[in-house]
Amino acid sequence: MTAVHSPTAADSGASASANFRSTTRSSVDVSPERVSTVATAVLKGVHEAIREHDVTYPEFQAAKQWLMDLGEGGEWPLFLDVFVEHVVEEVAARTQDGTKGSILGPYYLPDQVTLPAVSTLPMRADEQGSPLVFSGRVVDLAGQPLAGAELDVWHADSEGYYSGFAPGIPDGNLRAVVVTDAEGRFEITTVQPAPYQIPTDGPTGQLIDAAGWHPWRPAHLHLIVRAPGHRPITTQLYFAGGEYVDSDVAEAVKPELVLMPSDQRVTYDFVLEPA
Ligand code: DHB
Ligand code: FE
Repeated sequence: MTAVHSPTAADSGASASANFRSTTRSSVDVSPERVSTVATAVLKGVHEAIREHDVTYPEFQAAKQWLMDLGEGGEWPLFLDVFVEHVVEEVAARTQDGTKGSILGPYYLPDQVTLPAVSTLPMRADEQGSPLVFSGRVVDLAGQPLAGAELDVWHADSEGYYSGFAPGIPDGNLRAVVVTDAEGRFEITTVQPAPYQIPTDGPTGQLIDAAGWHPWRPAHLHLIVRAPGHRPITTQLYFAGGEYVDSDVAEAVKPELVLMPSDQRVTYDFVLEPA
């Protein structure tokens, strides 16, 4: 198959930045003490890295140029979600019971089509990729089914591209909100996503290349699972034996979130704690 779209870092970065601005409330009440504590710690980390590694003036100026490029290319959401979000999630997880969380990433879009418990995700007539049937239940900490729970699901296509961000893919493709039945069950038919590559032609890609790292995330399904009276969980599911499961550039894989596919089917039960 020939690719009909070849997204550039500039496209993905700009769309991810615009999406962040339009969907995320980014103001929070923080005391001057808290700002000072955290900002001082961050700066101290930078200062220590400079001392420890004898960072030179040319290196400092190159870093400044790179940070300017990162901002101008709109790549802050891509960069922060790949290299920093997993630690914010790790801290949030300290107080979370039930299903393990993982990073949200830059490609969530709210307000997708609502579908019943047994559904096929919106996809193109000629959608490529092997079929995948993803089923399971949503339950509470006591194992009681949660009827009417929402699985807000989104994932990349068989080339690793997300609708709404890569050009040439219809809006809402491989995205939906699936509602569980009276027994808390769901069965979602979709296609197997491919691993995702951080766009290599922008500043984030330049850093990865210059450092000799690889730019890949393993194939994954994204989910936000919600039920009234329960704490929503943002997570991702991965596929055992898949490429990059053990070397995710975003360090967002947890062993509990790796599924064992059998015959193009995977199952997973989500456990939600009270709100
Ligand atoms: C990024 C992309 C993803 O699909 C994801 O799950 C996490 C991060 C990124 O490009 O930053
Ligand atoms: Fe993703």
